Amino acid sequence: MPYNFQIITLFPERYSSYVESGLPARAYKKDLFRLNTFLLRDFADERRKGRVDDEPYGGGPGMILQVGPVEKALASLPEKFPVVLFTPRGELLNQKKVKQFSKEIGLILIPGYYEGIDERVAENLVDHQVSIGEFVLGSGDLAALCLIESITRLLPGYMGCSDSEVMESNEDGLLEYPQYTRPPEYNGWKVPDILLSGDHEKIRLWREMKRNEITELRKK
Ligand code: ADE
Repeated sequence: MPYNFQIITLFPERYSSYVESGLPARAYKKDLFRLNTFLLRDFADERRKGRVDDEPYGGGPGMILQVGPVEKALASLPEKFPVVLFTPRGELLNQKKVKQFSKEIGLILIPGYYEGIDERVAENLVDHQVSIGEFVLGSGDLAALCLIESITRLLPGYMGCSDSEVMESNEDGLLEYPQYTRPPEYNGWKVPDILLSGDHEKIRLWREMKRNEITELRKK
């Protein structure tokens, strides 16, 4: 059964263009996953003519996404899956959480916009709050796409060869070893001799050492 993403968004075209090129396009055409977008504006209060944001109570800059349109959009969805809200205040995403999400049969994604989203969404309507990093995006759509890609690439059949899934960065908490391909020398920049030696045991040990080295360096 294809993995099912239902996304409540102001910008559906961001998702349709995502599945137009590269591996996502191929996997999408193979029906490994489905993306259904629902336009948040369609659930705006009738009197507000498609507007879904308003000023923050208590004052302050920017606009806040209203709870009503989000609640109505959620209620309208044909299928129910765990609901994920994207916000810089969410739990930091990592590969372990991606793997857990990949075991679901689908997810409902809610990217945040503007200065934020009425807290009653987080309090009452969502199962998970996710941040993709300690920085602030202008919208949650790119964060949602990060989660979509990190999940779909784990789906069986996404990559040509299944080994690359197992070996990939972060699966066991260690980062990936460096990789090289032809030519063996370019501009005087050489591929490490050991990789050309054909000694598989030595290569395995070298890779293990490099993974530990780079993990130490990056995770400090
Ligand atoms: N929306 C804005 N910034 C975000 C972040 N870092 N992660 C998830 N959603 C966001």
